[in-house]
Amino acid sequence: MSTTSRNINMLILSVLILGLLVMIVLGFMLGFSHPLPWLLIGVLIIIPFIHDKIVAKRFVEWKESYSVENKDIDDDHKKLLGMINQLQTAVHYQTDEGTIEQTLNDLIDYTKYHFSREEKIMQDHDYPDFEEHKQEHAKMVAQVTQFIDEYRIDKTRTIDNVLQFLKSWLINHINGSDQKYRPYLKK
Ligand code: FEO
Repeated sequence: MSTTSRNINMLILSVLILGLLVMIVLGFMLGFSHPLPWLLIGVLIIIPFIHDKIVAKRFVEWKESYSVENKDIDDDHKKLLGMINQLQTAVHYQTDEGTIEQTLNDLIDYTKYHFSREEKIMQDHDYPDFEEHKQEHAKMVAQVTQFIDEYRIDKTRTIDNVLQFLKSWLINHINGSDQKYRPYLKK
């Protein structure tokens, strides 16, 4: 969701809340025993919960099923998910561009560090699909670099694309390709 979309959504939410407040006041003019204003108060109370649930869906969460049963790699994956959430928070609260850029750079640097550490562990355990996995890492780095280059040209257009890409890629990769080497780490 772009900054403009977020601002429009916030405006719609504010107008909705204001409209509900007006309708509640008007509703009470029908009498305190009338059910309409009480019903509207109920709607007003659940709006923040629904809003929080929608916002929470933008954040990623570690699940035990993501584990590859190697503490170093699991810790890296947890840290990467945490960094994505940090970036999501910075974007959601429209933090200054410098902070977003720094968070993004830290995430990319740590991703590269993680890839090289994971590749070393795969090699040490003679993982037969090591080359394929390594190429997948290289492709990801190239794609992210391209996204970031686009983001630097037009930040409002691509920061959400970067986030979306990072979230879906990381979850799919951790839960897909990374799971394939899991049995080999036990050898
Ligand atoms: Fe954990 Fe293959 O990256």
